[in-house]
Amino acid sequence: MTTASAPGKIILFGEHAVVYGQPALAVPVRQVQAVAEVVDAAPGSGIVIQAPDIGKTVSVSGASTDPLALTARLVSERFDSPRADVLITVRSTIPIAGGLGSGAAVSAALGRALSAHLGRPLSPAALSEIVFESEKLHHGTPSGIDNTVICYEMPVYYVKGQPPQTFHTGAPFHLLIADSGIASPTSETVGDVRRAWEHKRRAYDRLFQHIGAIADRAHDVIRRSDVAELGPLMSENQAILRELDVSSPPLERLIAAALSAGAGGAKLSGGGRGGNVIALVTSQNVAPITDTLYDAGARRVIHTVVGTD
Ligand code: MEV
Repeated sequence: MTTASAPGKIILFGEHAVVYGQPALAVPVRQVQAVAEVVDAAPGSGIVIQAPDIGKTVSVSGASTDPLALTARLVSERFDSPRADVLITVRSTIPIAGGLGSGAAVSAALGRALSAHLGRPLSPAALSEIVFESEKLHHGTPSGIDNTVICYEMPVYYVKGQPPQTFHTGAPFHLLIADSGIASPTSETVGDVRRAWEHKRRAYDRLFQHIGAIADRAHDVIRRSDVAELGPLMSENQAILRELDVSSPPLERLIAAALSAGAGGAKLSGGGRGGNVIALVTSQNVAPITDTLYDAGARRVIHTVVGTD
């Protein structure tokens, strides 16, 4: 049996604008993960994928349009073993449609486990290329940031179409990730933003550029360890996400609650409308802000320290 995993992710700055060529920052979140197990199966059975958590079984064929089947096919074709006979089981603790990269992480764990089982473990770059193809099936125009941060398992500064730059933080900082419990497929918010951009290109391009400038400033701040400057940048980014109409009353309630309890800044992370909010906290105020987020309706709150590995 071969087992492999992949982490979840959060976007720190730059979601949506990154689809239009602006820089964005994302970090892996290891507290949630996808795991894939591969075992040999009877000769002639081909590649079968099971996802027991969501009651799904897929047989991989040349015509499959399922994202996991596509990942398995691309991995096996790359190694000239399209007729591998294996059973792949995938499981994930990453909420689906919650902005934590569940789709990309499950594909990454699968690609990593299958390539290792076939004796040719893929590099992060090669795995990321394959997972990007599966992301296109989830939502037509992904920027590529989710597959990149999840396959490299490092903080990334990402500009679409350019080689990703992984980076180290100057000093670690604490974040709370609060799940609104509302599933919101990225394909819907990305599609809505695209339709709005088609109507008002100049105005939207200006908003995207403003977000890109915030991501660049945040990149500097994180590397210089000026953590106190991060909070206001998060709130500035959130103000533009609101203008893009990807926030929602439940997310705004979580953001307001975190700020009123002393968070340095807060914003939605990922596609928006539902999914997760991130808040900048310190080791001293983690506990009271976590309680406040639960009181404001969070279904789950994860504490993560960025920059400790
Ligand atoms: C999703 O995690 C981030 C978005 O910017 C979409 C993308 O970059 O593909 C909303």
